[in-house]
Amino acid sequence: MVTARLTIDPRSAVGPVNPRLFGSFVEHLGRCVYDGIYEPSHPLADDEGFRTDVIDLVKELGVSTVRYPGGNFVSGFRWEDSVGPRAERPRRLDLAWHSTETNEVGLHEFSSWLDKVGSELMLAVNLGTRGVQEALDLLEYTNVGSGTALSDQRVTNGKTDAFGVKMWCLGNEMDGPWQLGHRSAEDYGKLASQTAKAMRQLDPSVELVVCGSSGAQMPTFGEWERVVLTHAYDDVDYISCHAYYQEKNGDLGSFLASAVDMDRFIESVVTTADHVKAVNRSEKTINISFDEWNVWYLDRYENVDKIAGIDNWPVAPRLLEDAYSILDAVVFGNLLISLLKHADRVTSASLAQLVNVIAPIMTEPGGDAWRQTTFFPFALTSHLAAGSALEVKLESDSYETDAYGRVDLVDAVATHDAHSSRTSVFLVNRSQNEDAVVTIDLSTLNGASLLDAQSLWDEDIQAKNTLEDQERVGLKPNESVVIGDGTITVTLPPVSWTALTLA
Ligand code: AHR
Repeated sequence: MVTARLTIDPRSAVGPVNPRLFGSFVEHLGRCVYDGIYEPSHPLADDEGFRTDVIDLVKELGVSTVRYPGGNFVSGFRWEDSVGPRAERPRRLDLAWHSTETNEVGLHEFSSWLDKVGSELMLAVNLGTRGVQEALDLLEYTNVGSGTALSDQRVTNGKTDAFGVKMWCLGNEMDGPWQLGHRSAEDYGKLASQTAKAMRQLDPSVELVVCGSSGAQMPTFGEWERVVLTHAYDDVDYISCHAYYQEKNGDLGSFLASAVDMDRFIESVVTTADHVKAVNRSEKTINISFDEWNVWYLDRYENVDKIAGIDNWPVAPRLLEDAYSILDAVVFGNLLISLLKHADRVTSASLAQLVNVIAPIMTEPGGDAWRQTTFFPFALTSHLAAGSALEVKLESDSYETDAYGRVDLVDAVATHDAHSSRTSVFLVNRSQNEDAVVTIDLSTLNGASLLDAQSLWDEDIQAKNTLEDQERVGLKPNESVVIGDGTITVTLPPVSWTALTLA
């Protein structure tokens, strides 16, 4: 049996939980947009062609902000193609995913869909094949009321009020050799700085995200952040982090500890940003937009899914349609714990992605929409985590991993909402074969009582929800909780994720 002890004190806050931590990402990639959120011929489509069953699931998931339209896609995207009369919109090659983009869904349609799901738009500009002028044009189109060529064009296209987009990404993964227009840190840092200054000249209220590394495994990681921020520190508000994890060579122990890597990644980027702050003698602090994170079986894409051929550019092909197991969802829930543990510096995040493409929601054309295993930790965390993230004191048994050395078997974070007097505790047990008994010291939470305890686990850690068996796995009430004098004891099954709600 694994044991762990946790002390929670609402007076020790890491920082406020920004609702933007529960953002997601919709890219024009595979069946995320077409045959995902949008399928006009579906029996449940609304008058704009959006699937209402998907809208309901996105609302249930509790997504605050949605990053759009890419991703790698944005680095070859001409935003003008996606506005105006649909019949006149061009079909374009999407080089990132070797597909055809019909532009049937564009900025106006996507914004209307966001109104239906109640989420905020976060737009990316193309700094791959385009530059400062096109970013300014898009900003004029979206944020200026009227009376100029591009704002009036928006009005003519049916949107009288400005879109008022606040969050903007200055390109996507510009450190990656696969990216159209990939640049050195020097070149990108200068371009990002020029673009940011120009955008702020037009609209000083925008919040700007400069590209960090596309992963901590990149050979330029660390130096990329330092050089880019040296150029753009004063011009931006956030630096991005991206991280994807997958089980490799059957090494479950390392995979279950993926959040350790995320913790270290965040702490390294914070250190680098603060180094540039010190060198610049700046008063300003740059925070992190963790705008792509998930479990992703990238090897499967590289070896099986990848499309090729000069006359083979399908519309909405099945790409990156990973089916997630309980094991994946436990790792995923732990990544959410890592984001919350760093809530002081990670103030925006986007789960990549939302529908069909490495997604918590899957759909079948003309058929059902269902929840993957990863849906459950995201939905529960986004609903429960409010107020402040707390600095929990954790003592846990540990184990050896090949990838990260010795790590704790139990990981946890808590949040406390002073308005509702509600405390939530999120925990994982990384042990593959033993229960973890966790004792939570609540002496600072006078007379706390348990409202709810839900766990995600299964005898079969490879169990998944599929088209044929859509409700195979889900949350289960955790009935092991024992309330003592100033403590709560909970038993976590092997490979499990748990959320406790205390009043
Ligand atoms: O989310 C899938 C892809 O992963 C994105 O397009 C890209 O930014 C990242 O490499």
